[in-house]
Amino acid sequence: MEMLLALGLLLFACGLLLEYATHRPLRHAFAPPHSTIVMTEADDDFMEEASEAVVKRRSWRTKSQRMSRSASFGEEKPASLLSAVASIAFLSTGLLSIYAGLVQGSTATASVPLIIDTDMSFDVDDVGAICIAHALMDLGEAELLAVVHSSGYPEGIGAASVINEWYGHSSVRLGAYKGSFGKDANGEWISGLYVPNLVQNFPSPVKNLSQVPESVEVYRQTLAEAADSSVAIAVIGFATNIAALLRSSPDRYSALNGVELVKQKVRLVVWQGGWYEPLHPDGHSTFNWDCGSCCGYQGVGCLGEAQYALQHMPANVEQIFTDLGDAIYHGGSRFRSCSSASNPCRQAYIDHSWGLDDLSDVSSTLIDMYGHPPGRQSWDPIAVLVAVRGVASEQFVLDQSGGYNRADFAGANFWTPPNESIRLSKQSILAFDGTYPWYAERLSASAVLDDLLCRPPRK
Ligand SMILES: *[C@@H]1O[C@H](CO)[C@@H](O)[C@H](O)[C@H]1NC(C)=O
Ligand SMILES: *[C@@H]1O[C@H](CO)[C@@H](O)[C@H](O)[C@H]1NC(C)=O
Repeated sequence: MEMLLALGLLLFACGLLLEYATHRPLRHAFAPPHSTIVMTEADDDFMEEASEAVVKRRSWRTKSQRMSRSASFGEEKPASLLSAVASIAFLSTGLLSIYAGLVQGSTATASVPLIIDTDMSFDVDDVGAICIAHALMDLGEAELLAVVHSSGYPEGIGAASVINEWYGHSSVRLGAYKGSFGKDANGEWISGLYVPNLVQNFPSPVKNLSQVPESVEVYRQTLAEAADSSVAIAVIGFATNIAALLRSSPDRYSALNGVELVKQKVRLVVWQGGWYEPLHPDGHSTFNWDCGSCCGYQGVGCLGEAQYALQHMPANVEQIFTDLGDAIYHGGSRFRSCSSASNPCRQAYIDHSWGLDDLSDVSSTLIDMYGHPPGRQSWDPIAVLVAVRGVASEQFVLDQSGGYNRADFAGANFWTPPNESIRLSKQSILAFDGTYPWYAERLSASAVLDDLLCRPPRK
């Protein structure tokens, strides 16, 4: 990058020198004879072109304009034209090199510091979310700092450790909620089919939560070490950890309390929680925030935590709420064939009947763009994708920006639309931009997720 910048500056300086030597302001080369126009349209366009990649059609137009104008000068003053052309060549090459240097520099530092707050006990889309985060880390787009687990199921964090190990990312910190939430009415931990298989049959340093710190401690240590306003958090599990973080007191990692620490370090929280119009009606309780009430979980220790977290999240932190994953499938039979049996992410989808084989809950119109049957719905992977790539990926937009969300104790959420005159908050709902028909949009989003899952680890 430094070399490109230096080259750019050198060329730019050459251009200026040459320009000075000819005693002829550059803009006159473009101005029609006898014109007193100071800054022509062509100059504007030229600067725009040099400073940003412009739409092809536009640069075609400006190029032809420039050519026809130069041609008319050519008859009058060939010598000055030559020197002007040389100056322009130096200046433009210089500018472009500077631009390339800056772009290269910005992508090199654009890796998003990310924390994933997950629940690896019940559904397999948490696995997909963590696996794509590792793939995005391999691509240099994300820096996965930590994965914290949000139910007390002891082996859940072991499955996260297996995935770290598969990708060779042992630097990713692990933490776990260690309370009693996560059990059914009989006092049994609610598990999933894939967790024991991964923990028992794939290599990992961590097998259960006894080997990792509390989630809050991992959150606090990781945030304390991060640059200000830098961290993105994808909260794709229960709200137990994030509420505990916001409630936390100063400790050996930071003199700030939880709210202050989040206010200083966190840039963005993407929530997989709640339901949003137009895809879903307002005011319903949904899985993560109602603490799995659909599915046998006893809510004590979790109920009220989403309500608390939404209430106490500092206003300067951007929050994006998503339920779009409902309509996007990933991890289907393409994932079975693109990756090896030693891939624990793939194994999780095979173990989980929702992942590959059971098509009873989806309509046949949802066959993916490769003609394969769909896999699992993508609630959690979409949250991670957007936390890293932003909404520009996959025709997403932020809808209802400036409105705000709240949840009740039982985890039902209620969205207040933005005030037309005042932006009330930095909160938005993730939506499709409507560029493509609904099917095309979700199929391309599916393909992006599967592409990431199919990437072999870089190690
Ligand atoms: C947790 O893992 C450790 C190390 O493998 C093991 O010794 C311990 O028995 C496990 N604890 C539980 C509750 O499974
Ligand atoms: C928007 O907020 C302003 C300032 O608080 C208030 O005066 C106005 O009535 C609000 N408008 C609506 C539609 O709520």
